[in-house]
Amino acid sequence: MEIRVENGRVAHPFFVEIDSHSGKMDGDATHIKRFLSKLINVFADTDAAKDYLRRHGDTLIYEVYEKDIPEANGEVRFCSSITYPGKIGNEYFMTKGHFHSRPDTAEMYWCIRGKGYMLMEKEDGEHELEEMHPGRVVYVPGYYAHRSINIGNEPLISLPVYPGDAGHDYETMEERGFKHIVVEKNGRPVVIENPRYGRMRG
Ligand code: F6R
Ligand code: ZN
Repeated sequence: MEIRVENGRVAHPFFVEIDSHSGKMDGDATHIKRFLSKLINVFADTDAAKDYLRRHGDTLIYEVYEKDIPEANGEVRFCSSITYPGKIGNEYFMTKGHFHSRPDTAEMYWCIRGKGYMLMEKEDGEHELEEMHPGRVVYVPGYYAHRSINIGNEPLISLPVYPGDAGHDYETMEERGFKHIVVEKNGRPVVIENPRYGRMRG
């Protein structure tokens, strides 16, 4: 279903269908695919990431279907976020993560499939980790960078909903990174300090 936009605002009700198994959103949603070759520096162990790339080829780590709702104050944007299962070294597949460009804006994530975590971290590195499983809604307050992490064996699918004018600041995390990362140790997920914190670009 097409969105009718007038004067930069949604002018008519509409709906979308989201497949709860695949996470696919129907219609004319923007479809973003994030492959490993573009995420090498996102993972703490870049050698393990390059090795994975050599052995498995360019792998789809996560994808997002995003409805093209105007990025305006008063609108509500939403998408379907699908993070696949797997690990680079001992670090789980995850999204890049970001602060919002308007840092005070909050977001809610409704998990509909899979098992994982929402890692949330403030500017000073203070962090919270909330489990994600079907039926759980995680609220990410303003001023927290956030990323989804898949610790299970099936796709982690959630539906993020956020203010129209939130925007994305990816730059900070590309440069500095999260202070904490989630890795598997003795078969269990644990939070450790990011060994590349502050120097994600090299
Ligand atoms: C929007 C939001 C989500 C993410 C999505 C992909 O503010 O938080 O829709 O955009 O989960 O993650 P990133 O944006 O970190 O690549
Ligand atoms: Zn966000």
